[in-house]
Amino acid sequence: MAAKRRIVVTSALPYANGDIHLGHLVEYIQSDFWTRFQKMRGNECVYVCADDTHGTPVMIRARREGVAPETLIERTRSEHLRDFSGFQVEFDNYYTTNSPENRELSERIFKAMEKTGAITVSKAPQLYCEHCGMFLPDRFVKGDCPRCGAEGQYGDSCDKCGSTYAAEELGRPKCTTCGGEPVLRDAEHLYFELEPEHAYLKDWISAHTPPDVANKLLEWFDEPLRGWCISRNAPYFGFEIPGHPGKFFYVWVDAPIGYIASLSNWCAKTGRDIAEWWPSGEGAEKAGAEIYHFIGKDIIRFHCLFWPGMLKAAMFKGPDKVFVHGFLTVNGEKMSKSKGTFINAKTYLEHLPADALRYYYAAKLGGTVDDMDLNLADFVQRVNSDLVGKITNIASRSSQMLHKRLDGMLGVLDGEGRELVSRMENASETVAAHYENRRFNQAVVEICRMADEANAFFDRREPWKSVKTDPESARAALTAALNAFRLIAIYLKPVLPAYADKAMRLFGETQWTWESLRGRAESKKLGEYSYLAVRIDPAQVDAMVSAAAAKPAETGEVSHESRASKNKAVVKSAPAAVSALKPEIAFDDFAKIDLRIGVVESCEIVPKSSKLLKFVIDAGALGKRTIFSGIRQAFPEPEKLVGREVLFVANLAPRKMSVGTSEGMIVFAGEPGVSGGMLSPDAPAGAGTEAT
Ligand code: 2FM
Ligand code: ZN
Repeated sequence: MAAKRRIVVTSALPYANGDIHLGHLVEYIQSDFWTRFQKMRGNECVYVCADDTHGTPVMIRARREGVAPETLIERTRSEHLRDFSGFQVEFDNYYTTNSPENRELSERIFKAMEKTGAITVSKAPQLYCEHCGMFLPDRFVKGDCPRCGAEGQYGDSCDKCGSTYAAEELGRPKCTTCGGEPVLRDAEHLYFELEPEHAYLKDWISAHTPPDVANKLLEWFDEPLRGWCISRNAPYFGFEIPGHPGKFFYVWVDAPIGYIASLSNWCAKTGRDIAEWWPSGEGAEKAGAEIYHFIGKDIIRFHCLFWPGMLKAAMFKGPDKVFVHGFLTVNGEKMSKSKGTFINAKTYLEHLPADALRYYYAAKLGGTVDDMDLNLADFVQRVNSDLVGKITNIASRSSQMLHKRLDGMLGVLDGEGRELVSRMENASETVAAHYENRRFNQAVVEICRMADEANAFFDRREPWKSVKTDPESARAALTAALNAFRLIAIYLKPVLPAYADKAMRLFGETQWTWESLRGRAESKKLGEYSYLAVRIDPAQVDAMVSAAAAKPAETGEVSHESRASKNKAVVKSAPAAVSALKPEIAFDDFAKIDLRIGVVESCEIVPKSSKLLKFVIDAGALGKRTIFSGIRQAFPEPEKLVGREVLFVANLAPRKMSVGTSEGMIVFAGEPGVSGGMLSPDAPAGAGTEAT
């Protein structure tokens, strides 16, 4: 048997200000498949992760919620853990980047980088939003890509052409917080110089990243490598840089160091020596564990350029390979909040079983950087026909017949049965190679082929007939079918661990490893059959999509609405009263709204309603409008509103209410009875004037 390997697996650390959604799960689930496979093979494999807690978005979200960042990140971490465990993603350690280990390692690595001369300090003009009073990090500014001109690109790279650049190069930059136009202001920053390691990094990329990723990355090496800005100015939630008061490590510096910190925390908890797992110093490259990062294609620059550069400078071992996957599309399109295809983990689990998604992802993932589509109709079909109809069916019909007709006693395999089961066992290295190379889809193809064979065997032997005439032949046939199922369930264990555990109990066993494929279940009592997988009703999927449309995932992406709003006073004075935001809408949705100015002609209380006011608005050329509005709490004396100019939505479809038909909507910001008010134009403008 091959020597036991020592392996460290990581998945990208999720931001501590957003929900886990099905897109994230593409990564965590496949890393989990791989880790579980390695463990089944007898390797010492440790899967570590953590929440990525630092940076401006977390700081701003915490402010918006009126809590300390530490409170927000603690809450998010427990939500993330809940979601991961719901999907059977099992980490050996799930930590936080806001940890003492991470601070210590970040300082140590930075000091080592400084010692090599790779850290420079310089002043450079940076985008500054005068309205928000802050320098804008890359992801807080959007504009036109300086290479291809695509609109709405972030300040670091272009989604359309893939080029990377500095935020200052964007055309028509806009602050994503307030929508305002930032100005250039001189800021002092620390840079990590990569050019001295040009040749090393070029070779490193070729050796450690998938060829299609390497080809893309190597394009950057035609020119000298630019220094990477690693500092952020206060206010910033993160670690202050030693020796540079008021400057903080950019979140992307301490985030990957968080992999080592999480591993180090695991070592401390389990009595291991970090030097044997993720070594540093002379000879580190050749020592320690094999290290593998699973990441999405959007963050290759950080993992395949800056990260190996940092590790080299600080003399830490680098990853052996970076495994890169593509994005998730749903029904062939980018996940969409309005279509209900931006589905968070919790919403999914409220409607569907985790196994179904794990199975489907396995059936689709081939270890490439290609995007993966979750086609919801195909998802239902594959789970129902393959996992339930094909695979689980072998166990349910065989075990039920054995229990009902043959006292639940397994017999001995006959010649034909032995051949069937041996053929399946002989596929073990093929399936193992698929798992090892992350061709999970090929593993599933093999497994389904075995299930087809087992079902064909069952149908050919017709045990439901022979049980009446030759019960021992029927027993042998059922024993073979159940042994075939046993092997299938072992093969499926990395993908469906809970399913495999239940199947294992059916055979009265306590531990399944890859070695268990050699075993046979004969001449013993079969356990009680408990359901392993059930068919999905398409109505469950519809309900999930409706729920997701009503409450889409909080992405962690920081949008205009979710950050300091124009009305800073509202956020500052009463943070706890800020109600949850409705789902983000597209600009096109907003543009459909036609706001007009009208004059309140009359306003009265609606009898028997505690909320409604009845307005008659004089909208000039548009005529008069009757509008019922649920804002009575804010106006104890509604008659005082007569003569006031207000904004109203003029193109809303008339709505029949029990008290009459409402022909528009008065614009009111805030919560009636708590804070806020009706919006009025600055200066008197003619009734019915278009608002801009
Ligand atoms: O892109 C992201 O979601 C980052 N939070 C990933 C960090 S991975 C690692 F470097 F920590
Ligand atoms: Zn701004």
